[in-house]
Amino acid sequence: MKVAIAGTGYVGLVTGVCIAHMGYHDVVCTDIDKDRIEKLNKKISPIYEKDLDEFLEREVDRGSISFTTDEKKAYEDSDVIFIAVGTPERTDGSANLEYIKKVAKSIAKYSKSGCLVVIKSTVPVGTNDEIEKYINSKSEKVFEVASNPEFLAQGTAIDDTINARRIVLGVESEDAKNKLEEIYKGFNSPIIVTNRRSAEMIKYASNDFLALKISYMSDIANLCEIVGADIEEVALGMSYDDRIGAKFLRAGIGYGGSCFPKDTKALHWLSNSNGYELKTIKAAIEINEAQKLKLVREADKDIDSFEGMKVCVLGLTYKPGTDDLREAPSIVNIKYLIERNAEIHVFDPVGMNNMKKIFGDKIIYDDNIKDALRGSEACFVMTEWKEIRDLTPEIFLENMKVPRVYDGRNCYDVDEMLDKGIKYYSIGRTR
Ligand SMILES: NC(=O)c1ccc[n+]([C@@H]2O[C@H](COP(=O)([O-])OP(=O)(O)OC[C@H]3O[C@@H](n4cnc5c(N)ncnc54)[C@H](O)[C@@H]3O)[C@@H](O)[C@H]2O)c1
Repeated sequence: MKVAIAGTGYVGLVTGVCIAHMGYHDVVCTDIDKDRIEKLNKKISPIYEKDLDEFLEREVDRGSISFTTDEKKAYEDSDVIFIAVGTPERTDGSANLEYIKKVAKSIAKYSKSGCLVVIKSTVPVGTNDEIEKYINSKSEKVFEVASNPEFLAQGTAIDDTINARRIVLGVESEDAKNKLEEIYKGFNSPIIVTNRRSAEMIKYASNDFLALKISYMSDIANLCEIVGADIEEVALGMSYDDRIGAKFLRAGIGYGGSCFPKDTKALHWLSNSNGYELKTIKAAIEINEAQKLKLVREADKDIDSFEGMKVCVLGLTYKPGTDDLREAPSIVNIKYLIERNAEIHVFDPVGMNNMKKIFGDKIIYDDNIKDALRGSEACFVMTEWKEIRDLTPEIFLENMKVPRVYDGRNCYDVDEMLDKGIKYYSIGRTR
């Protein structure tokens, strides 16, 4: 089949190269961002994602994937079109569906009748119904819409797609189901077929459950600090219970990224607008907002004034393995320090270029960890990249003017740091 994909971000591009990789279908990806398409045509990935460069190069060379800004060319003879554009949050917390509607309008204009439109972007329950009505109202042709939410995690996106733990197909007809099963030929993953509304809800319920788990651990970690328990021992003890599971039990400075923050707010908004309050999700959002500033609040207790003080921020991206800074806790913390006139030196192995677009010359971008640490009086660890986790107490002692480390990702051994004379704070841990 001929498959088109609208949007070449983390989801669209990875989906495109993975479908192309299976070798059954021809893929064409389209984006409104000219620079992105130019790079992709030169086999350069516009995003940082493990294994993506190799997949991209191989599939372009094989001729199984192509890239264009020309929507007509992409859509006109496609049998299936995936929509993988952004659904960012609006100021009221609801999901902004404008990007999806723009793609839908172009599909109505350029695509052939009978083409299956598949919404991969995360959208509120009822959106597939709404978009189907919208496309069909714009054209004499007939289109069916299906939901196929995406569950990949940035940093492991290729593996998560090729070896998906599940593929959810939200369909309203046998024809849509058959076409999507054909698309996923070669993927060795369980396929779950539901109606469109359940598929849309599965995505939000899954993401929000993970966000809730993180906020729950933040909450328990905060209580551990007060009552003298250790969150890592607590998490270990909890992890042996299969009903709880061992993942997502790490305490830290909360979640960020392009999904959890907006998806919790969107589900909360959807619930409220239907006259129901999702109290669990409301709590998860509130806890996370407070947790993001835990380190600087703690440092405030030790430091009278940040005015002119050299401070160091290690790790900028919202998690390791990605260059994505959307909703990264580092951003609110750096803003906090800028407002207090600190001299802020930062280091991140892949996130520096994206950070320059946010803070420009308000902060100093160092080429390596030692330069960022040198002469600083406080170090804030925001992301647990391997090179940051691997730092020894000696590196802090040798390079910092005053060895104070505020560790938002519990990277180091508490006893070792304290015994070596470092003022060390981490989340929910005791000596
Ligand atoms: N990033 C993730 O980890 C992840 C995981 C699962 C689901 N999702 C969901 O998938 C969707 C996409 O997320 P993302 O992170 O890939 O977004 P992204 O911002 O990385 O990429 C979106 C792309 O769509 C392009 N675009 C916008 N309008 C367009 C149009 N009219 N035609 C063609 N392209 C257009 C943009 O230029 C951009 O390149 C969102 O709804 C998100 O919630 C994301």
